[in-house]
Amino acid sequence: MSPYAARRAALLEQMQPGAVAVIATAPEVARNSDSDYPYRHDSYFYYLTGFTEPESVAVLLAARGDAPACSILFCRPKDPEREIWDGFRHGPDAARTAFGFDAAFTIDQLDSEMGRLLANAPALYYALGSGAALDEQVRRWLDQVKRQSRSGISAPAMACDLLPLLDEMRLFKDAEEQAIMLRAATISGQAHARAMRASRPGMYEYEIEAELLYEFRRNGAQAPAYNSIVAAGANACVLHYSRNNALVRDGDLVLIDAGCELDGYASDITRSYPANGRFSPAQRELYQLVLAAQAAAIQTIRPGQRYQTVHEAAVAVLAQGMLDLGLLDAKQCGGAADVIADKRYLQFYMHGTGHWLGMDVHDVGQYRDLSSPGKPSRPLQAGMTLTVEPGIYVRPAEGVPEAFWNIGIRIEDDVLVTADGHSILSTAAPKSVQEIEQLMRQNP
Ligand code: GLY
Ligand code: MN
Ligand code: MN
Repeated sequence: MSPYAARRAALLEQMQPGAVAVIATAPEVARNSDSDYPYRHDSYFYYLTGFTEPESVAVLLAARGDAPACSILFCRPKDPEREIWDGFRHGPDAARTAFGFDAAFTIDQLDSEMGRLLANAPALYYALGSGAALDEQVRRWLDQVKRQSRSGISAPAMACDLLPLLDEMRLFKDAEEQAIMLRAATISGQAHARAMRASRPGMYEYEIEAELLYEFRRNGAQAPAYNSIVAAGANACVLHYSRNNALVRDGDLVLIDAGCELDGYASDITRSYPANGRFSPAQRELYQLVLAAQAAAIQTIRPGQRYQTVHEAAVAVLAQGMLDLGLLDAKQCGGAADVIADKRYLQFYMHGTGHWLGMDVHDVGQYRDLSSPGKPSRPLQAGMTLTVEPGIYVRPAEGVPEAFWNIGIRIEDDVLVTADGHSILSTAAPKSVQEIEQLMRQNP
């Protein structure tokens, strides 16, 4: 069984007997006349099908009584004329065989078939509230079934949100997914190394971005998993900086947050390094602090440890470091425990320490145990994948030593929870001060 068929079977097991689930892929989006944005499938749809053509819908029927479970694909028809312009499309017959469906139809048969498939089904599972177009489509289908009520046919009495079931499944990466994510993180790590090697004062941020994109594509990654950040100097203190058009100056640190998407899976890596290849004393002090915070956070990752512990470990190190380096005044702020209790560290560290990573860069899945009283942060389990990305961002302010002004540092790695601890997927990106300075000494 393909992993996709296995996932469909696992989802069908969780549905009510006889219920129907509908999962549509993403629409094509026009950029301007005759030009579309690069097509990206819907992550849920791809997770269950492995099928990347637009205008596709999967319909899953859960077993009931003697009727077995059934998976149906709706997709674009074969069209020799369109294929001259846009390339190969499977069409229902070939797609059914290649992707392991029980039946397949063309997408223009969806409405009429749904009227038949929903007849007497007790429940309909779909992405509730995800968009007006789908809501309207569901309304039409239900209307169609209800019109047959005089023949004794009943429409689903219940609509169920499909996404929580799929989110929980997607949170746990199987061996195949782990292998793709390791490869994606390795390509991205190599891209960071390439960008460091190419960097020198006098370049523009976009020239460094080009090195990243080149390395992604030459290794077969389809796209960046998110908009790349290449931020020199004070730009590194802008958390979602995206202009990437400034001049890189001697003495700047450069913060790069960039990762490729490979075969539907994201990587997400941040590195911060000196444009001229040598950390200044102030840059080095802050860098070592963030690195220590990241090491402490990663160290906590193992099954059974609560998700929030990772963040707390990073904050503990950062809070103490902010006092030690004089970013925060111990006379005013007290000790590290006070800095944490009073949230004073937020002045320099204002984001979380990570997120789930998978098909989406900020991947799906609950962060809390919703079934326990108080909804505590959930325990980590083997197969989960998360980023660990502490940082420090020093904007000019009274009382803050000037040597640290406008330094922004984030260090981000991708980490898999394993049965007995964790495994860092993104080790290809140089990280220690020594590794970075040594690599940059090789710059032409
Ligand atoms: N690159 C997005 C993030 O780090 O969350
Ligand atoms: Mn991230
Ligand atoms: Mn990132």
